[in-house]
Amino acid sequence: MGIDNKVQVAQIVAVANDNVIGYKNTIPWRSKVDLNFFKQATMGFPLVMGRKTYESLPGSLKGRVVYIVTRDKHYQPEKIKADGVHVTHSVREAIDAAKSWAIVAGVKVVWICGGADIYKAALPFTDMIVKTTVDLDVFGDTYYPTLDEWDWYPQAPAETVKDGDLTLTFERFGKNRRENKFFNK
Ligand SMILES: NC(=O)c1ccc[n+]([C@@H]2O[C@H](COP(=O)([O-])OP(=O)(O)OC[C@H]3O[C@@H](n4cnc5c(N)ncnc54)[C@H](OP(=O)(O)O)[C@@H]3O)[C@@H](O)[C@H]2O)c1
Repeated sequence: MGIDNKVQVAQIVAVANDNVIGYKNTIPWRSKVDLNFFKQATMGFPLVMGRKTYESLPGSLKGRVVYIVTRDKHYQPEKIKADGVHVTHSVREAIDAAKSWAIVAGVKVVWICGGADIYKAALPFTDMIVKTTVDLDVFGDTYYPTLDEWDWYPQAPAETVKDGDLTLTFERFGKNRRENKFFNK
């Protein structure tokens, strides 16, 4: 299969200062701009997320299918919050199933949507990271993993925007493959 036909695995995350992504199973800030960015980026694509993130979603994920990761073999989501909801039992299983769905649907990205362990476990399979940094000191209990800067390079110039009192910076990183690590740094 040529590179153009490959389904990419991409992570999408919003972090506050110190890589905080969550507190008490919510996101401890509110940014309409970032929510819209998430919606636009993920619309039409399959999403992979941990059971807690799925249950914490306040709204629906219309137009998307979700692959929930849980260790509970009997897990059934109480609420159906997306066009399709599938239960899987490992990150690898979720990514493979989401990729198969993407191929049938003719789309080229599987989005990894957290939380902490899912982002970490998916890193070896991840091609791209789309990150919003919210310049905010906030108390958290869930963190995005620290990236090895040698593994990732900026794919596009960072873009900073204001959303009320919040300052958001949008960045996109590609994975440095072994063979081009030294050319991108
Ligand atoms: N800022 C952001 O962009 C962002 C994005 C996503 C989430 N969040 C925040 O992050 C928090 C939730 O994240 P979290 O890290 O606590 O939970 P999570 O990753 O969403 O879910 C954790 C659950 O996923 C399952 N799981 C994790 N690793 C697994 C594995 N290797 N194999 C099988 N199942 C596995 C387990 O489910 P079972 O317990 O059912 O076995 C585990 O309890 C919330 O505060 C949420 O708001 C923020």
